[in-house]
Amino acid sequence: EKDEIILAIETSCDETAVAIIKNGTEMLANIVASQIESHKRFGGVVPEVASRHHVEQVTVVIEEALVTAGLTMEEITAIAVTEGPGLVGALLIGVNAAKALAFAHDLPLVPVHHIAGHIYANRLVTEMHFPLLALVVSGGHTELVYMKEHGSFEVIGETRDDAAGEAYDKVARTLNMPYPGGPHIDRLAQAGQPSIKLPRAWLEPDSYDFSFSGLKSAVINTVHNAAQRGEELAPEDLAASFQASVVEVLVEKTARAARAYDVKQVLVAGGVAANQGLRSALEARFQNEEVPLVIPPLSLCTDNAAMIGAAGSIAYRKGTRADWALNGVPGLDL
Ligand code: KG4
Ligand code: ZN
Repeated sequence: EKDEIILAIETSCDETAVAIIKNGTEMLANIVASQIESHKRFGGVVPEVASRHHVEQVTVVIEEALVTAGLTMEEITAIAVTEGPGLVGALLIGVNAAKALAFAHDLPLVPVHHIAGHIYANRLVTEMHFPLLALVVSGGHTELVYMKEHGSFEVIGETRDDAAGEAYDKVARTLNMPYPGGPHIDRLAQAGQPSIKLPRAWLEPDSYDFSFSGLKSAVINTVHNAAQRGEELAPEDLAASFQASVVEVLVEKTARAARAYDVKQVLVAGGVAANQGLRSALEARFQNEEVPLVIPPLSLCTDNAAMIGAAGSIAYRKGTRADWALNGVPGLDL
């Protein structure tokens, strides 16, 4: 049988990414052009700057992916693209590039949800066993997702305010660290002790929802109060204490949900899944649970197009197609 080769495009935020995926799981190319340097001086992603970079980069990155894979467009089976959620102007660049390629080469166009993509990053490293639970922790999302089969997503818990990554970035800003702050806090935390008392938002006993804005405020207040007393808190202890609070709630609620839903596998996804503290705490906790835990390598946790290709392959086989009216949808539901 002929190989299925998907060319996938992801431009929802500040990475212009193109990947080529063979038969749903094999990465022939996975190119990520990061714009972080351009956004750093603004302390966060500037939507207009992101769109302009995507326009300049997208065809270059498509070409680079084809060259890396050693393929021509004639060998591509379908085009997958992130439809949303994300920055509308950024999404539109990827969607239009995908439409142009699909139209010019008469190929099927497959729309993919960004969070489905994050979850399916796991398919590039392991087989998926259903029903499963996915912990999605990124800059825009913090969700526990129950999947009874491919393509079926039930959100059983989500953040009521800030996403985990957003909390990391805001706390990092308070500590005068560059954007994105997550990796800096992670590094700092490894050198510190979780000695500063900070709250944990458990919410109602049976809730799988999260809340991180109270924690973020507590960190800011703690820093200010110490400054007023003329004290200076060790940044590494502050980072370690903040991280301990985030990680404890994420790990506990994930383990609890995995038991309650009696899943066969737990997957971790999203940029914050690159966090060393979270990875080791999850691994330690799930050693005592019966259900297997999967965490993709760092490069597949943060935004990339390989994950969109992996999710796109499943959608393609299910017959999911977009027409030429496909648009970027910033608030797309999973
Ligand atoms: O999934 P992602 O690349 O983009 C979104 O879809 O949002 O996630 C980006 C988020 C940022 O908030 C970044 O600070 C966070 O992931 N992040 C981390 C780490 N690496 C990236 N947070 C904590 N520890 C890390 N090592
Ligand atoms: Zn993402």
